[in-house]
Formats: sequence, C-alpha cells, structure tokens
Amino acid sequence: MKFLGPSDILAPDSSRGFDIDGCRLLGVRRDGVAYFYLNRCPHRGIPLEWQPDQFLDTSASLIQCATHGALFLIESGECISGPCAGQSLTTLLGREDAQGLWVDI
Ligand code: FES
Repeated sequence: MKFLGPSDILAPDSSRGFDIDGCRLLGVRRDGVAYFYLNRCPHRGIPLEWQPDQFLDTSASLIQCATHGALFLIESGECISGPCAGQSLTTLLGREDAQGLWVDI
C-alpha cells in the first residue's frame, strides 16, 4: 500500500487527484468513506478532469468525465450515463487509519 497523506487531504464530499509514481488516480470522500479509482475514463482512456481535483458533477453526487460527460457512481465507479454506460472506472483498494489514507496501486 502507498501512503497518500493524512486523512484531511481528502475533505468531506470532495474529490482530489493524485499522481503516485506516475500512476494517476482520484479519490472521492462521501459520507465519510474514501473511494479510489484510476483516473482513466473507460470511454477514451484519458484522465477525467478538466481542472485540477475537479472530478464531481455540479451536484457533487457523481463522478464526471469532463470530455464527453460520462457520469459514474461514487461508490462503485459504474458508468450510469454517457458513451461508456455500463462500463466502470477501475477500482483501487484503499484504506484509512490513524495515519491517514493508503491505496493499493
Ligand atoms: S473520454 Fe470520458 S466520456 Fe469520453
């Protein structure tokens, strides 16, 4: 597991991008739980965000790809709308403890 940082680097109901040894990933915290995915849209295989750390739609309830607007469930990474509907983001195993956030890449 790779250490990402203390828990407060991922604020409540926010998203954030990370670059770990050249691997781009994103984290989203929702209802206290941190979720991690590869930052790679299943549609074109490109990063999801158009501005740093902006991975959520305007309602902050779904992960959004900025290129063609695909929407993904925060809890599972499943695409529920857009050109890659039915596909999913690649889930990364995460962990949170007293030190902070960890992810398996
Ligand atoms: S590249 Fe993400 S929806 Fe097309």
